[in-house]
Amino acid sequence: MNDLYSKYKSLRTGAVADYIPELAKVNPDLFSICTVTVNGDVLQVGDFEHLFTIQSISKVFVHGLALEDHGRDYVLKRVGVEPTGDAFNSIILDEQSKRPYNPMVNAGAIATTGLIKGKGATERLNRLLEMFQRYVGKDVFVDISVFTSERSTGHRNRAMAYLMLNFGMIDGQIDESLDLYFQQCAVMVNCRDLAVMAAALANKGVNPLTKEQAVDSQYIKDILSVMYTCGMYNFAGEWAYKVGLPAKSGVSGGIIAVVPGQMGIAVFSPLLDARGNSIRGVKVCEELSQQFGLHLF
Ligand code: DON
Repeated sequence: MNDLYSKYKSLRTGAVADYIPELAKVNPDLFSICTVTVNGDVLQVGDFEHLFTIQSISKVFVHGLALEDHGRDYVLKRVGVEPTGDAFNSIILDEQSKRPYNPMVNAGAIATTGLIKGKGATERLNRLLEMFQRYVGKDVFVDISVFTSERSTGHRNRAMAYLMLNFGMIDGQIDESLDLYFQQCAVMVNCRDLAVMAAALANKGVNPLTKEQAVDSQYIKDILSVMYTCGMYNFAGEWAYKVGLPAKSGVSGGIIAVVPGQMGIAVFSPLLDARGNSIRGVKVCEELSQQFGLHLF
């Protein structure tokens, strides 16, 4: 891991996300790699304590909570499980069913967030934070600056929500659900937290450090299948071919990958490629998969 870290530390191609003004302030040199096994062994290198907003990686875990709240059949009525080949912020819905394509693109994630139960905005946010806390094993917080920055600039996400309201794929509480979506994206984590969360997915939903059940084990196969086919957006096919692991990226520069029954992997580096995936993150995962034979097939 140290070798991989040294090898890619000098790779400075790509650009930090700047479509959310607050994200543009990040130091592009930050870089960390962490793995957590299902037995709770932690390996970490670089800036693994540095906190950043989880962004789209949250979509994986909120999909899990929506499944727990409503069951598989109902969630499938509202969100598909089909990869899009389009960018993460694509506004296209499935022509026939009018569903968003999958819970990993923004439209699908806004729909799954809309499914989170609770009486009003506070209870829904608290349920969401409690869910993240089970995965991470400690309290988590929302970064208010990133949340407000995203809320005041997220017109495209707002447009998607209204389109889905029109087709009955999301209920009337549009502003409440959009706020919850922006808040879930602004949950603060570090690279180590992400590796623990990925390890819980590798470990049938049980956090390997606290032994707490973070998500009902019956939904692990739903979560990981959708990550495998849709987690890396329009790079998902090449990722599945080369790395061969369920994974999810976010525009703040995090990537998680899950080796079922073995470990969770997390990489953080904010320099992104044109599809919104961390450049160092992709490289490190490709090499880890090759060197240790982690590809599922
Ligand atoms: O909806 C958005 O624009 C962000 N809050 C989440 C974006 C994200 O991380 C997509 N990723 N690659």
